[in-house]
Amino acid sequence: MLHTAVSRRDFLKTSTLAGASTILTGSRVPPTRIAGPVAIASGNGLGAVARAVEEINGGADALDAVISGVNLVEEDPNDTSVGYGGLPNAEGVVELDSAVMHGPTGRAGAVASLQGIKYPSKVARLVLQRTDHVLLVAEGAQRFARMHGFQIEDLLTERARESWVRWRENLSNRDDYLPPHGPDDRDLGEALRRNEDHWGTIHCSAIDLNGHISSVTTTSGLAFKIPGRVGDSPIIGAGLYCDNEVGAAGSTGRGEANLENCCSFLIVERMRMGDSPEAACLYACQRIAEHTHLARLQNEAGQPSFNVSFYALNKAGEVGGARIRGRGRMAVADANGARHIRMAYLYE
Ligand code: GLY
Repeated sequence: MLHTAVSRRDFLKTSTLAGASTILTGSRVPPTRIAGPVAIASGNGLGAVARAVEEINGGADALDAVISGVNLVEEDPNDTSVGYGGLPNAEGVVELDSAVMHGPTGRAGAVASLQGIKYPSKVARLVLQRTDHVLLVAEGAQRFARMHGFQIEDLLTERARESWVRWRENLSNRDDYLPPHGPDDRDLGEALRRNEDHWGTIHCSAIDLNGHISSVTTTSGLAFKIPGRVGDSPIIGAGLYCDNEVGAAGSTGRGEANLENCCSFLIVERMRMGDSPEAACLYACQRIAEHTHLARLQNEAGQPSFNVSFYALNKAGEVGGARIRGRGRMAVADANGARHIRMAYLYE
């Protein structure tokens, strides 16, 4: 049975560790009340946050609730950035990445380059629950999923296949291989000139009725990617991070920029230092902008020409998000229902 029960032994262990950590940093004030239920997600996760809060109100652990929430998007053939219906790699094969993190135990699980399994987030949870590891990839991840009863399915929908055929037929310089180049070379092709769907992903984090926090990120990754390419989503500290005493953060957008800056971990650490969720997310956007040195990744104004979005909540139930470029919205659900809220941004 899939469940995320926290044993009394684990609970006592994490409580003790949390106490020690509070003494070391000296900066955390324990919340006086439990903030849950609260769930946040990327803009494509309105249904996910609604379902997560509904399940939490029914007694679910935050991890099970957020996974159940994103399953709605993983199985949706119309979302071409996640799970079934996701846009395939350069060879027409759908490869999925996902990670989960469970605050009360501090455990994480992840899968990358997983083919043929519609719900990579469920497999990531099994890595957490049924292995002594954190990340399984490719064939090993698929074998592990089959061992636990998952069926192999063809995840390439007709719509995604047609998009892939169009891409193949118009390849020219629109792939992700780069010739030798220097830091000032700008015109290397159109790899980055993609619409945001091509880095689409869903992140969801929540606080449950016990005040415990958990997170999930799941994606089909960059559309038409070089086979085997792994983005930020399944990497703990990049695509998501969760500290049960502080809060959680997750991302969507250009995974390479996030991988190079470990932003979800950075955001949680900024919240630990007292930043609001929104301020911490903006800080991560700023960090990426400052570290974007290559001309091919910049616009004429020297700003990042790509986008990354971050979503965060803290232990008190405050939520916020920020993007590098342009207005955007994220999904939130709590006792007042599910809705979209605006995100902050660095550049118009
Ligand atoms: N952020 C999703 C990816 O880059 O794969």
